[in-house]
Amino acid sequence: MSMEFEEKVALVTGGARGIGLSIAEPLVREGASIFICGRNPTTLETALGRLHNLRGESGAAGTVADVRRYEDCRSVVQHAATRFGRLDILVNNAGVGIFKPVDQLTAEEWDATIQTNLSSVFYCCREAVPVMRQHGGGHIFNISSLLAIHGIAGGSAYCASKFGVNGFAEAMMQDVRYDGIRVSTIMPGSVATDFGGSTGSNLHEPWKLSGKDIAQAVIDIYRYPSLALVSRIEIRPSQPPRKQ
Ligand SMILES: NC(=O)c1ccc[n+]([C@@H]2O[C@H](COP(=O)([O-])OP(=O)(O)OC[C@H]3O[C@@H](n4cnc5c(N)ncnc54)[C@H](OP(=O)(O)O)[C@@H]3O)[C@@H](O)[C@H]2O)c1
Repeated sequence: MSMEFEEKVALVTGGARGIGLSIAEPLVREGASIFICGRNPTTLETALGRLHNLRGESGAAGTVADVRRYEDCRSVVQHAATRFGRLDILVNNAGVGIFKPVDQLTAEEWDATIQTNLSSVFYCCREAVPVMRQHGGGHIFNISSLLAIHGIAGGSAYCASKFGVNGFAEAMMQDVRYDGIRVSTIMPGSVATDFGGSTGSNLHEPWKLSGKDIAQAVIDIYRYPSLALVSRIEIRPSQPPRKQ
């Protein structure tokens, strides 16, 4: 447990698996109360079991929600704030990756990507900012991507969504900075998760970042003095396979 996180309340979207769960776990260990959400009830229950094992049932709660819907995001933020009495940290992490050439991407896949990766960030921030203001400030983390600054073949929807997250975050940071709300955007390279349908040997490639690497960035950035704002960082695997 550490002073910076004790009595703090954090909401992690998509916190039931992958990078989101990797971020939720050390936050709980450091003393924060955690609220997580995701679409799959079984995954959510399993993750809550893991979080309860770390610090008892009072330290973690969650609900099924689809962040593509504004009403779900509103209810998740209210639920977290009501359950734990405040909201100090919001991690906008939920995301999907659909990678196809633009002429093969369906309109539904485009919409799902933009709604999950970009609109949800607005929805959650829209609801979280007034709650954070009531308690004198907070910290919003956006899990963006290196593909927020590099367009790649097959990444039209994903890159558009993450370029959007970076732009949204940079503008919002200026809306809320004088309310004591810091906004930090983390741009990881490849992380070993199920993201975008990665499976089997593809998933476990040892050169990839781990969710813990991204969690460490969240913890370290939060610990910066309150008058210092780490607004954007890139984290990449140090030794990816050499390009042929
Ligand atoms: N893995 C990488 O290489 C990588 C690199 C850079 C950035 N990122 C970003 O990191 C974030 C997390 O990705 P990950 O690697 O942890 O992927 P992941 O293992 O596939 O996890 C995605 C998470 O998002 C949740 N989610 C997806 N759609 C949702 C929805 N509509 N409503 C609520 N929750 C939803 C999932 O839960 P449910 O399925 O239960 O809904 C899951 O918890 C994403 O924003 C991704 O773009 C990942």
